[in-house]
Amino acid sequence: MLRKAPWLRQAGRLNMSTLVLGGTGTTGSRTVKHLLAAGAPSVKVATRHPASASPSIASADCVAWDWASPAGWPSTLAEVGAIYLVLPYAPPPQAGIVAAVIEAAKAADVKHIVKLTGQLHVAEQYTIGADNRVADDLLKTSGLTYTLVDCNFFMSNHLTFNKDLIMGTGSFYGASDGKRISFISPDDIGAVSAAALLDPAAHHGKVINCSGAAITEHDVAKYLTSHLGKEVTYINLPPEALAKGMADSGVPPFLVQNLVSLESWKASGTADFGEGSPDMINILGRAPQTYPEYLASL
Ligand SMILES: NC(=O)c1ccc[n+]([C@@H]2O[C@H](COP(=O)([O-])OP(=O)(O)OC[C@H]3O[C@@H](n4cnc5c(N)ncnc54)[C@H](OP(=O)(O)O)[C@@H]3O)[C@@H](O)[C@H]2O)c1
Repeated sequence: MLRKAPWLRQAGRLNMSTLVLGGTGTTGSRTVKHLLAAGAPSVKVATRHPASASPSIASADCVAWDWASPAGWPSTLAEVGAIYLVLPYAPPPQAGIVAAVIEAAKAADVKHIVKLTGQLHVAEQYTIGADNRVADDLLKTSGLTYTLVDCNFFMSNHLTFNKDLIMGTGSFYGASDGKRISFISPDDIGAVSAAALLDPAAHHGKVINCSGAAITEHDVAKYLTSHLGKEVTYINLPPEALAKGMADSGVPPFLVQNLVSLESWKASGTADFGEGSPDMINILGRAPQTYPEYLASL
């Protein structure tokens, strides 16, 4: 659990809320959990469907937010001191949306934005990453205080995107060529993001690398086998065959291009950050979760 933040004790900010965009999602919901555990006085969970939000976040205040309806943003941003900013999976460009939310945040006197970004080392090789880099640069020059949470591949990807395939066929596919990957637990992303939201002064201008101890996709298959009680196998394919398989199963072309580029990055060995990000150890005071620890937490 995070310590109560000095920021919370500062006069004049006790009534300010923390707004978690994407607050019902994979990383946003964990950010909410850690904010509440650390004693944040007011947490707003942004969702398109506030009336039907998950009971797991019932102790937070669910508020309406739709990226497609900026006219509704100012009322949600009232009394907000800090924002967790994560964009949904969508075709680029999304940098314009980030520019709009930065302007709305400044107009509402928001002080700090913590933005989830990804794989900054390889951003130019895939369109989502390149778009993210543009959006990150907008935030850096916005005049707001900011923190960038630079995430490696999420541990949740296998069961978020391939659960039906894994349960149906016992297999999942990739092109990582046996190389190790420093997957990161979404719960650790939430913990680090909450820390940055609660203490902007300590985290302003920082790029926090989020990566856990490196393992192969074959290791992942072994852990999933144990977790699901069902034999799971990882099947490595040449990138062209992987792209064809994705396209044949209906994955949109922009996503095929991005996902195969990311597999190439895995295969180059540069998604291997060793035993876990020192940034995370510094903030959390412990090593990042391992893949089995992540599965046990589900
Ligand atoms: N997967 C990885 O390995 C990886 C690595 C690095 C970076 N990333 C980045 O992580 C991001 C995804 O993060 P995540 O997994 O935490 O998100 P997520 O689970 O996909 O959640 C997306 C959230 O966005 C909300 N949402 C969707 N469409 C919306 C709209 N039109 N207006 C308002 N809200 C909307 C959803 O809320 P409601 O449905 O409740 O409205 C949901 O809470 C992507 O930008 C991706 O590029 C991913």
